[in-house]
Amino acid sequence: MGVLSGHDRLYGRDRELRVVEGLLGRARGGQGGALTVVADAGMGKTALLDAAERAAAEGFRVLTATGVPAEADVPYAGLHRLLRPLSDLAGELPPAFRTALAPLSGGEAPAPFVLYSAVCELLSVAARSGPVLCRVDDAQWLDRVSLEALAFAARRVQDERLAIVFAARTQAPLTGIPHLRLPPLDEEASLRILQDAAGDALGTELAEEVVDLASGCALAVRELAGGLTAAQLSGGAAPPRALPPGSVLRTLYRHRHLRLPPGAQRLVLMVAADEWLVAATVARAARTAGIGAREIEAARESGLLRLADHAVAGDDAVVVRDRLVRSSLWAEASRAERRSAHALLAQLLVQDWQRPSLIWHRAALSGEADDRIADELAEAASRSRRAGRYGDSWQAWQRAAALTSERGARADRLLAAATDAWAGGRARRARAVLRQVRPLDEDGTRAGLAELLRGEIEAGSGSPATAVPMLRDAAERLAGTDGALALTALMWAADAADAAGDHSAYAEIAERAANLPGAPDTPRTRLMRAHLAGMAATFRGRYAEAARLLGRAVRLGEAIAGDSSADHSGDSAAQAWAALAALALGDGRARALAAGAV
Ligand SMILES: Nc1ncnc2c1ncn2[C@@H]1O[C@H](COP(=O)(O)OP(=O)(O)O)[C@@H](O)[C@H]1O
Ligand SMILES: [Mg+2]
Repeated sequence: MGVLSGHDRLYGRDRELRVVEGLLGRARGGQGGALTVVADAGMGKTALLDAAERAAAEGFRVLTATGVPAEADVPYAGLHRLLRPLSDLAGELPPAFRTALAPLSGGEAPAPFVLYSAVCELLSVAARSGPVLCRVDDAQWLDRVSLEALAFAARRVQDERLAIVFAARTQAPLTGIPHLRLPPLDEEASLRILQDAAGDALGTELAEEVVDLASGCALAVRELAGGLTAAQLSGGAAPPRALPPGSVLRTLYRHRHLRLPPGAQRLVLMVAADEWLVAATVARAARTAGIGAREIEAARESGLLRLADHAVAGDDAVVVRDRLVRSSLWAEASRAERRSAHALLAQLLVQDWQRPSLIWHRAALSGEADDRIADELAEAASRSRRAGRYGDSWQAWQRAAALTSERGARADRLLAAATDAWAGGRARRARAVLRQVRPLDEDGTRAGLAELLRGEIEAGSGSPATAVPMLRDAAERLAGTDGALALTALMWAADAADAAGDHSAYAEIAERAANLPGAPDTPRTRLMRAHLAGMAATFRGRYAEAARLLGRAVRLGEAIAGDSSADHSGDSAAQAWAALAALALGDGRARALAAGAV
C-alpha cells in the first residue's frame, strides 16, 4: 500500500486515546463498556482502533470484524468473522443458544432476540477467562443482523470484562451507544504526519500549504504527500491545489457528489464555485434553478455542505465542508458543470455588494482572464475596504490577484488580500494568502511585508514566541529598501519578545535596532531606538541607563506630538511607544501621551 500503509505513530489524538484507555481499564476490572468512534473517511478511525488494540495487548483477547461493502448484504457475515475464534466455546452455551448460533455455520435462522442473546452469552463466556476487546471497524458496511446483534450486546456489557469499540462514518447505525467524534487533526499533528510521509526536508511554505489543504484529514495529508512532484519538493513548482487525480478521497467525494439527485449536484457545485455565499443567495439559486426542498435536503445530508458563521454580516454562509472537499469537487467537475455553476451565480449576484463576485463569475464564463477585469475587481476591493467590509474586500483582492498578469502587482494584491483577511479576523485565510506572496517576490520587499504581516498575525493570535523570529526576519528583509519600516518591524518583534517573556531576545533586538543600516535619522526612529535600548536596560537591571534612555523616548514622543508642522503629529504608534516608556519610568506624562495616541 506504499505511503498509505499503517503506522504506529498516532499524532494529535491524546484525548481520544485517553477515552479508549479508560474504557479498556474499566473493562479489565469487570466494568464493561462500548464506544463508537465516528468520523468521515480518512480521519483516523482505524488508526485509533489499532492504537486501542495495542493498548489492549496486555491481557485482552481481541476479536475483530471489519465491515466490507461486498458483504454488506450477506447476513451474519460480520458475526461470522468476529466470533469464529470462539467456536470452541460454543459447547459451553446452553443448548438453546447453541442452536441460535447455527446460522454462523450455515444452519437455520432463529428469531432475532434469541440470536442476539446467544451472542451476548458467548461473549460473556469468553470474558470469563480474561478481558475481551471486540473491535468492529467500518460498521457502516456490516450486514444488518450482525450490526444489530453487536449493538444489542454493546448495550449490555456493563458487568462483563468486555469492551466493544466500533468505528463508523456516521453515528446513525449505532444509536444508544456512546460515541466519540474525531475532530479534524490540528496543524501540528498534520505536519507530523506529513514529515513522516515526505521527510523533514520539506520546505515550510510547502508544508504549511499541504497541511492547510488537507483540512485536518490524515489520509489527505498522506495522499497529498504521495503526490508531491520533484519540482514541488524543490520549490520550483507551486504547491498542490487539490488532491492528486485518482486519490481515494477525491474519488470518494466525487462519487458522493454524483450520487445526489441532479438539482442537488448543481447546488453543491454552485457553492463550490463561490466560497462565500449567504444562505439567502443559495435559497434564491434553488428557486431560480427549480431545485426542490428534497434536493436541498439531500445536498445537506451528503455532508458535502455546511453552514458557517458569516463573520461580517452576521448572516449564515453556506460553504462546502472544507477546502479539501471543495478543491476535490471542483477538480473533478467537467467544464460544462463548472460553466453551469458560474452561469447560475452570474444570474443571481445582482446586489451592489456582490458586484466583485459577479465580475469574477462573468470572467470565468467568458474565459478571458485579463487585466482590465483584474483592475475592476481591485477597484471594487478598495471600495469594500474603505467601507470596512473586509469580508468582501479580501476576497475581491484575491480574485483580482488571480487575474493579474504582472507578478509584482499580483503580489501587491495578494498582500492587500491578506491584510484585509486579517483585519476581518480570518487568520488562517490571511496566512494561506501570504504563502502565495513569497514565490512572486523578486527584490525581497514584498516578502518582507508578507513576513511582517505573518508575524503580526502570530502575535495577535496569541503566539508571540512564534512571531519573534518572523518579525526579525521581516526587519532584515526590509532593511535594504525601507529602513524605517524595518525598524518598526523590530519594535513589534521586541514587543512580541516581551509578551513571550524572552528578555534575551529583547536585548538582541534592541542591539540590532541600534545598528540597523539604512534607517533614516528622524525623531521617530530615534524614539524607537531609545525605547528599545531603555527597555533592554531595564531588563538587565541597569536602571540609571534605562531612566536616561526612556526619558529621551518620552521627550521625543512629546516633540512628535507637539510638532504640528509635520504630518507625524498624528503618529499614534510613536506616541504609544513614548507612553510606554513613560509608564516604565513611572512618569506622570504617560497619561498625556497615551491620550494623544488614541
Ligand atoms: N492521528 C494520526 N497520526 C498519524 N497517522 C494517522 C493518524 N490518523 C490516521 N493516520 C493515518 O492516516 C491514514 C488514514 O487513517 P485511517 O485510520 O485509515 O482513517 P479511517 O479509518 O478513518 O478511514 C492511515 O494511513 C493512518 O495510519
Ligand atoms: Mg478505516
